[in-house]
Amino acid sequence: MEEPFWYSLALIIIFTLLLKLSIAKITQKHNNFPPSPPSLPIIGHLHLLKQPIHRTLQALSGKFGKLLLLRWGSRRVLLVSSPSLAEELFTKHDIIFANRPRLLIGKHLAYDFTTVSLAPYGDLWRNLRRTMTLELFSASRLAQFSSIRQGEVRLLLNEIMKKSCTERKTKIELKSKFTELSFNVMTMMVVGKRFYGENVLDVEEAKNIQKVIRDGMDISGAANLGDFFPFLQWIDITGIEKKMVRLMAKMDRFLQGLVEERREILSTKCGSNGKEVKKLMIDNLLALQETEPQFYTDDIIKGIILVMLVAGTDTSSTALDWAMALLLNHPETMEKVRAEIETKIGQERLLEEQDLPKLTYLQNVINETLRLYPPSPLLFPHEASEDCVVGGFDVPRHTMLFINAWAIHRDPEVWEDPTRFEPERFEGWSGDGSEGYKLIAFGAGRRGCPGAALANRLIGLALGTWIQSFEWERISEDNVDMSEGLGLSMPRAQPLEAMCKPRPIMFSTLK
Ligand code: HEM
Repeated sequence: MEEPFWYSLALIIIFTLLLKLSIAKITQKHNNFPPSPPSLPIIGHLHLLKQPIHRTLQALSGKFGKLLLLRWGSRRVLLVSSPSLAEELFTKHDIIFANRPRLLIGKHLAYDFTTVSLAPYGDLWRNLRRTMTLELFSASRLAQFSSIRQGEVRLLLNEIMKKSCTERKTKIELKSKFTELSFNVMTMMVVGKRFYGENVLDVEEAKNIQKVIRDGMDISGAANLGDFFPFLQWIDITGIEKKMVRLMAKMDRFLQGLVEERREILSTKCGSNGKEVKKLMIDNLLALQETEPQFYTDDIIKGIILVMLVAGTDTSSTALDWAMALLLNHPETMEKVRAEIETKIGQERLLEEQDLPKLTYLQNVINETLRLYPPSPLLFPHEASEDCVVGGFDVPRHTMLFINAWAIHRDPEVWEDPTRFEPERFEGWSGDGSEGYKLIAFGAGRRGCPGAALANRLIGLALGTWIQSFEWERISEDNVDMSEGLGLSMPRAQPLEAMCKPRPIMFSTLK
């Protein structure tokens, strides 16, 4: 009785293995995968990933092609480095690639994949994105909060002015100022609270939280082996998972504190200084919590604030940092920006957000900065939710997609003399249709950056006001070092310092 059973089992196993092998052979024959550089067994192409990764991948595409299929451990990765392929992906295949890969950071640093940036494509993501658009990114909300941004830019001007109120030039360290500005703007819009500046008690808390954000971004940028080798998911060999849990515990305490504090203020119906409370973004979220408590849980609200702080602060401050560095190395361009402001606004008043549409050259400078130094050089990863054909090649379901904005922005077939800083190249440029995919610093399609208009306003306002209000110069004859440092939002390697001197408008307009 026993023997026939074992024979049959062995036959079934052999038959299944043979069937699997032949299916694999057949599909291999019929699959027309994109080109792939030589790889190693098990690790695939992981050994090629040297920092800075956007440059390594740019070199790889230069050698093997603008559409590559790589293997990072067990994951297939589609690497795209051309505007026409980016267009195909963000139009024809936009829904298929609207998913995000399930990486460990989503579990530990994004409330178990429930933040808008890392949620899978579906109802949860749609609801979050709609809520954020209504509460923050819509034209009316952007206009409503413009006084906050203007107020913060002016407070910073005042602060710089106090350090440099004489005719002498004063040395200023700029990156930390940009970071403080973008953090203050975001927290003021969301929870009505400033963390940096005079008479602010929470500076240390903000610094701690920004360190947590930066560490979180560093971890997100570092390869987590478990994401590429599923059998390692059970053992946290590098200790990265424990680190994520520790960081998120600190972040969560901070966010929960913000929510509680605001809840308390709202429940007394008065602001802490006795004034009627303003309608802030968090107020609307807490109101939604009362009507739909099962969706707007505290975790969902904290996740929304988290995204604003993580996606919105470092990106904007890094862009400002690169823009100022470029302008310090190109004083003639800085002068041209100032001349445009003098002509269109004058010396009687400081520039305001409503003036920005008139300042086309300033916008060209911002575009050129984002082209040369996009704060997310590889955009964010996407994931294919079904098999599809891209650029004529087969791309299987679950393939991760990286679009190398850095490579597209610096491709001589796309941009003339691509490494040259030349804002004039954007004169008359509309970015409409296919042209738009040549500059994709904000991504595109369904998962494109919803904060692009906000970022453009803040960067334009800050940069324009600084140039209008101060003379800026390099601290020495040497050009500012433009090398990129390590980090997800591509910061500059060196801190940015500059000499500044107030212009007459500072004495007449600021009290
Ligand atoms: C210069 C500033 C900024 C740059 C360069 C930038 C760039 C990007 C990029 C490249 C993406 C990914 C697009 C993709 O997946 O294809 C993205 C997504 C996102 N950005 Fe921005 N961003 C900036 C500022 C902001 C600001 C100020 C906010 C909000 C306050 C913001 C919120 C988001 C969110 C929520 C997502 C995820 C969207 C989703 O997955 O549905 N960003 N951003």
